[in-house]
Amino acid sequence: MPDEYKVDAYSVEGKVDYEDAVKKFGISLIDDALKARIKNDAGDVHFMIRRGLYFAHRDMNLLLDKYEKGEKFYVYTGIAPSGGMTVAHLVHFIMAQWLQEKFGADVMIQIPDEEKFLAKKNTNLTLGSTHELAYKDALDIAALGFNPDKTKIFLNTEYASVLYKQAVRVSKYLTFSIIKDAFGFGNDTNIGTIFYTSMQAVPAFLKSVEAGKNVPCLVPLGLDQDVHFRVARNAIDKLGYYKPAIMHSTFIPSLKGGPKMSASDPDNAIYLDDSPETVEKKVNRAITGQQSTAELQKRLGGDPDKCAVCQYNKYLFEPDDKKLAKIIEGERRGTMRIGEHKKDLAAKINKFLAEHRKEKDRIRDSMDSFMLRA
Ligand code: TRP
Repeated sequence: MPDEYKVDAYSVEGKVDYEDAVKKFGISLIDDALKARIKNDAGDVHFMIRRGLYFAHRDMNLLLDKYEKGEKFYVYTGIAPSGGMTVAHLVHFIMAQWLQEKFGADVMIQIPDEEKFLAKKNTNLTLGSTHELAYKDALDIAALGFNPDKTKIFLNTEYASVLYKQAVRVSKYLTFSIIKDAFGFGNDTNIGTIFYTSMQAVPAFLKSVEAGKNVPCLVPLGLDQDVHFRVARNAIDKLGYYKPAIMHSTFIPSLKGGPKMSASDPDNAIYLDDSPETVEKKVNRAITGQQSTAELQKRLGGDPDKCAVCQYNKYLFEPDDKKLAKIIEGERRGTMRIGEHKKDLAAKINKFLAEHRKEKDRIRDSMDSFMLRA
């Protein structure tokens, strides 16, 4: 019996047992055959897929069957604004941009600026503040190198007349008991949150509505978001559209240990707005894989799986496999001084953030070319 854990759209608790989740959710592992197929079709496999940050999927093989026959897919993902983006939030957008580049995919990005306003208890988020945060997120996302001709970003409150019409169709197939069971909602859940899944489902078939024929869709997301699509895919199918393919990522660990880089403790995560000094400070305090005593360390060596510095390199900041192997080995054998280890990571993060800021400055005034409103 695995330890208790919980992964759904509104809470991630405990140590997630990913193998168990694959069985429970009825999803499939991204195996070597699928990686080889992606490599064959894309000419490359992103290190986030290769190294298993993206570890599971739904219907990726069906999607690639279609792609190989000349049927192009589009990519859909999103983020609910709640308080500024962390580097961990970028995972799905980095993946979407890569898929755009390698598969020529159009990209749709939903910013549900009502979601956290509705679902988060005990915060003072207003629709005004989530709206503002949404625009900040949109700029952070667009600056990751998306092609403005092939990328559309929208806020739910601003694209509502298009989205709502489709959400209503989805909602007709989602009963209260389906949603209650899937999310564990009770009688105290507000009805906006109960309806919300229908809004998140829409962009997964919106292109088909627009095109007047089925267009395949791929959704990169964190495992916590699978639940929305678990229920919505059936509704989408009943409406006569292709069920979207999904690729699931695990979570980037928090800097201080723990399963998910939570946005609620600012020291646990690197924010895109963090100054170079703040980044250095946070990385310096990050958990490493060193054993508790010198004696144990000598006998067992460090544990790269526990080390946030190793994990950040592996999943986000060190694309070069040889350099990564050196870092992981250094940790395991204890040959790398922890100070060096941290300094090196902080420098990589700061370099990334500086470039990202520069790109934001470059595109800030042309954001309208990305935004959809109706
Ligand atoms: N619900 C997501 C969040 O909490 C935001 C989101 C909207 C999303 N549409 C999506 C995430 C599609 C993944 C895929 O951040």
